[in-house]
Amino acid sequence: MKVLVVGNGGREHAIAWKLVQSDNVEVTCVPGNGGTATLPQCRNMEMTQNDFEGITRFCLVNNVKLVVIGPEAPLAEGITDYMRGKGLKVFGPTRAGAQIESSKAWAKALMVEAGIPTAKSAVFDNAADAKAYVEAEGAPIVIKADGLAAGKGVTVAETVGQALTAIDACFSGQFGDAGKQVVIEECLFGQEASVLAITDGNTIRPLLPAQDHKRIGEGDTGENTGGMGVYAPAPIVTPELMERVQREILEPTIATLKQRGIDYCGILYAGLMITPEGDPKVIEFNCRFGDPETQAVLPLLDMPLEKLMLACVNGELEDVDPLRWKPQVSACVVAASGGYPGKYKKDYPITGISDAEGWGATVFHAGTYRKKTGLVTDGGRVLGVTALGDTFDAAFAKAYQALGEIQFQGMYYRRDIGHQVRSAIDLSSEP
Ligand code: AMP
Ligand code: GLY
Repeated sequence: MKVLVVGNGGREHAIAWKLVQSDNVEVTCVPGNGGTATLPQCRNMEMTQNDFEGITRFCLVNNVKLVVIGPEAPLAEGITDYMRGKGLKVFGPTRAGAQIESSKAWAKALMVEAGIPTAKSAVFDNAADAKAYVEAEGAPIVIKADGLAAGKGVTVAETVGQALTAIDACFSGQFGDAGKQVVIEECLFGQEASVLAITDGNTIRPLLPAQDHKRIGEGDTGENTGGMGVYAPAPIVTPELMERVQREILEPTIATLKQRGIDYCGILYAGLMITPEGDPKVIEFNCRFGDPETQAVLPLLDMPLEKLMLACVNGELEDVDPLRWKPQVSACVVAASGGYPGKYKKDYPITGISDAEGWGATVFHAGTYRKKTGLVTDGGRVLGVTALGDTFDAAFAKAYQALGEIQFQGMYYRRDIGHQVRSAIDLSSEP
């Protein structure tokens, strides 16, 4: 069976890696990265991910049975609508469904309509009204550009002054059209968790919950990033809590999307805050697999991924057996380029990956490129090293041992990923 995966990050490497565990699956990644380039039963195709026409033609000529869209940008631009229109089976929501991520104002309105627990909020299309609201509400308060802003559109403002600056940044065009509207939200407290759920638009089933580490610095300090490491299953999301997430969040969201005439097929990713009272509240929805969450969650999945995805595109998820998981835990640590999430350089040679895998870890490539002369860095987040274990201590020990084998100029990683679930962390040595 031929599958095409769109994207070039760690998420797409993990998806392709999981798919090719089935002998009968062959994957083409568009454009893929240095990891998917050498994965067995997998190849890369040099084409940009917004060349909908070119990708579709390739799929039709090569009899591709399933298309998986990794990133949010092509979903928000309607790649699924286009490819479905040509008769292809696409795992990933339509443009209308992707609004759940591409417009925070739209997502908030949907949450209110569906009665989903989330932060109180208001939407503004001009700075004066937004500022008046912030003055009235006080700080801390959260300012969000409405549209896709590559993870940079959210400011958790500790002071009214910071909030006002963030409002000016949005309306001055710093995020382009994404900042034409601003969502202002009550600041939530607690622990964050990511619940990715797979859906055919009628039935929705959560994958194992994960906990990501968004900040660049140890101790969860410094700037926000795409995610510096993750573990699964996150114990904070107990089975009872997962039951509530299913009933109070996932099912009503899908039902409300359906009422709006949206046939949502793919992943619904709920970014949650687990409040100190133990209630799950939605911080945001994403219309795709999380990254790096996918790099920790898929290695635990103990059944073929294409079977689940095909059931979704065919509207038959209800008929699939309950999801099966390995009775282990998973740890993933991200190695980033020096300077990320700010400016960083690319094109540095990477060594030690096979030694790292010798420890029994899996090295997912997030930002790499395979040149004739060897593998080089090609992004902010470069690699995600994932290890499974019977305990989080064992899984993280293995992931960090493996990471110790890898080198590239300026390599940075956090040594405290999983601090919530590990017993002792020694941060005394030089990073
Ligand atoms: P987002 O880009 O929507 O994922 O938001 C980035 C990060 O901002 C989240 O992962 C949270 O850490 C934080 N955040 C967003 N909304 C809130 C909120 N209402 N309360 C507290 N933190 C928030
Ligand atoms: N790890 C956060 C995200 O995928 O949005």
